[in-house]
Amino acid sequence: MRVLVLGSGGREHALARALHRAPAVTALHCAPGNPGTAEIADNHQLDPCDPTAVTELAERLRTDLVVIGPEAVLVAGVGDALRKAGVPCFGPDRAAARIEASKAFAKEIMAAAGVPTAEARVCDTTMQVEEALDAFGPPYVVKDDGLAAGKGVVVTEDRTIASRHATACERVVVEEFLDGPEVSLFALCDGQHAVPLLPAQDFKRAYDDDAGPNTGGMGAYSPLPWISPDLVDEVMATVVQPAVDELRRREIPYVGTLYAGLALTSKGVRVVEFNARFGDPETQVVLDRLATPLAKLLQSCAIGGLDPDFRPEWHPGAAVTVVVAAEGYPEAPVKGDEITGLDEASKVDGAYVLHAGTKLGGEGRLIANGGRVLNVVGTGPDLPAARATAYEAASHIALRGSHHRTDIALKAAAAP
Ligand code: AMP
Ligand code: GLY
Repeated sequence: MRVLVLGSGGREHALARALHRAPAVTALHCAPGNPGTAEIADNHQLDPCDPTAVTELAERLRTDLVVIGPEAVLVAGVGDALRKAGVPCFGPDRAAARIEASKAFAKEIMAAAGVPTAEARVCDTTMQVEEALDAFGPPYVVKDDGLAAGKGVVVTEDRTIASRHATACERVVVEEFLDGPEVSLFALCDGQHAVPLLPAQDFKRAYDDDAGPNTGGMGAYSPLPWISPDLVDEVMATVVQPAVDELRRREIPYVGTLYAGLALTSKGVRVVEFNARFGDPETQVVLDRLATPLAKLLQSCAIGGLDPDFRPEWHPGAAVTVVVAAEGYPEAPVKGDEITGLDEASKVDGAYVLHAGTKLGGEGRLIANGGRVLNVVGTGPDLPAARATAYEAASHIALRGSHHRTDIALKAAAAP
């Protein structure tokens, strides 16, 4: 099977790594990829959001499967173009990707499908925003309706900050605050059926103890020893399948990963958000545990015929990933500094490093080229071991001004 992965971050490096391991994969390509994917795949320099360029490349490579990483590529209609050209593609069409690209559309689907989520109001005017803030009370949750790379959401006790965020956006969703821990569940969908992967937990705030601004995600771990064994079945029955059915009913079949961001509240499971793709950095830990070959699984979604009763197999043990972020991330990441210590980090038993925002500079030097620069992954027989491995490996990485959280998976690892 000839496979092309679109994107250039840590998620795509993890996808490429998992696909590279799959025996069915005879050729692996990435566009544009990164210096990490270059070690296991052929990188092609093109804009992954250009439907024509991607389709031409996929046809030239006689690709059997294209796997789309980032939401921007979905929203640009690359999935539509590939399917139109007859190239099997894992990743929804633009219309179905609106489940991530428009918070208001996601709420509409959830309401129609009876999916439990935060009560919300779509607001276009200052008056509507102020009324909604009054109605829900603090803590205030204000979300930019459009795509904002994980940074469009403000959760605050401060009414002024809530109002100011709303003013800066064209249209917002103001919603009820959801208490309780968050879980990310990815379901692989073929338009009709869905199969769940292992749940993971992400750490969205920039600093330890969930302080600081929201980010794309500062670390993740899987599995989650503290969740009920029935949670996944419950979410598949009450969240994922109803959403997939509703989209199919609207003739916008959902092919790809439906990412349910969940809050386990005192009133039960609620959807915080849907994303139309694999989560980053949760994918890094989830795919690490996957024992079933990934390529066939994604291909059966892309061409239809996913067996809804199939459940992937998982390696025992745990994985933890720590994101090494550039100075200034998330507000204004500093690019261009040299990164060292990857070889030493990878020599730590059970650890490896995924590239998230890097590029090669002169003389083969590795340079920071994004906000989230590296994902250091640690594995082990249990969470405490995986965590210790990840942090030991991260201690070898040097990048001027970089920062990482020191409490990824800490609570879960400490629990009896
Ligand atoms: P989203 O982009 O919708 O995932 O929101 C980003 C983050 O904001 C989530 O992961 C939550 O941590 C937080 N958040 C979003 N919606 C709510 C809510 N209704 N109640 C509490 N926290 C929320
Ligand atoms: N880790 C959160 C996301 O991928 O949106």
